[in-house]
Amino acid sequence: MKKLIPVNIPKIFQEDKKYINQALKTNWISSEGPYVKKFEYKFSKFNKKKFGVAVSNGTAALEIAIKSLGLKKNSEVLIPSFSIISTTNAVLKNNLKPVLVDADLDTWNMNVEKTINKITSKTKAIIITHIYGLPVNLKKIIKVAKNKKIIIIEDAAEVIGLKYNNKICGSFGDISTFSFYANKHITTGEGGMICTNIKKYYEKCKSLRNLSFSKSYYNRFNHDDIGWNYRLSNLQAALGYGQLENINWILKRKREIGNLYYKKLKDNKKILLQKNKTSYAKNIYWVFGILLKKNSSFNREKIMKKLYKYKIETRPFFLSMNKQKIFRKLKLFKKSKMPNSEYLSKNGFYIPSGLGLKNYQINYIANTLQKILN
Ligand SMILES: Cc1ncc(COP(=O)(O)O)c(C=O)c1O
Repeated sequence: MKKLIPVNIPKIFQEDKKYINQALKTNWISSEGPYVKKFEYKFSKFNKKKFGVAVSNGTAALEIAIKSLGLKKNSEVLIPSFSIISTTNAVLKNNLKPVLVDADLDTWNMNVEKTINKITSKTKAIIITHIYGLPVNLKKIIKVAKNKKIIIIEDAAEVIGLKYNNKICGSFGDISTFSFYANKHITTGEGGMICTNIKKYYEKCKSLRNLSFSKSYYNRFNHDDIGWNYRLSNLQAALGYGQLENINWILKRKREIGNLYYKKLKDNKKILLQKNKTSYAKNIYWVFGILLKKNSSFNREKIMKKLYKYKIETRPFFLSMNKQKIFRKLKLFKKSKMPNSEYLSKNGFYIPSGLGLKNYQINYIANTLQKILN
């Protein structure tokens, strides 16, 4: 290979260009333009939710969604230890207490039993994050949460379009969040969305993303709350609207990429892969992860370095929240033991899987990895 194969190359469709051009032609470039509402409507319907609030990214979506719940200071929120830092940050920024749950080595998702065991009388919400394209096995957690009146925030950033027991992920949370960063199943470059059926949360999220301006025409600058400017522009929404029209193709291709890798790598004795399918879902491979086995003599960084020499870009897995230097400095999670999350963090990396990837590149990447491992 002459040129580096990046971990992600997004795909831009004809429809995306058509709608962006329309937005430009009509001078609607800010968040006031019509594509924002159109995209919110189409995306929330796709996720079987009544309301959608488009925001500037998935981290903003989490922050606002949590704030809209109006939880009392220091309430406990259960979150996965193996995930993006956005989740923990959003809980902390809302003056709530994040409680970590360790991952499952089988699915790489938060462990269901451990989640339930961490519930206390102070637990007011659980953030359920689906990792890398495979959903959390939701049934039991949802049942327990309902019984105990615990709110479910479903972070479906990595699984747009995935189904759990034939029902779309993102439809299970009392409030659900999504990201449209360039490497997500559909993208707006940067962007995110909050979806819910609960009008009170919807109204609050809408207000918070737009500096909580007063609804009164003449009193606009007398604000209702300490909000954010987390708006999505009409240009970005036009892109998202076009992308969503191609979601079936996108999901098919992402699965094709994942299945091609899976077939080529599944028998390698030195690595573990995320499950290709379970009784409740078929992986949609947001990314394709490689996990070195416990008894492996390989070093993750060395393999990543070698792959880079062969012009293959990779990324390490998320770093477990109890190992983050910033949280150590803040003396958070000192007593949390997260052996599985730590294991994933130390031994996992992912290989290119963007929609722009060609089959010959997939073969080259899989063959090169096999060569290095053997
Ligand atoms: C599960 C999850 N939640 C939230 C986010 C944050 O999204 P964004 O990068 O759009 O802020 C990400 C980003 O990758 C993510 O993977």
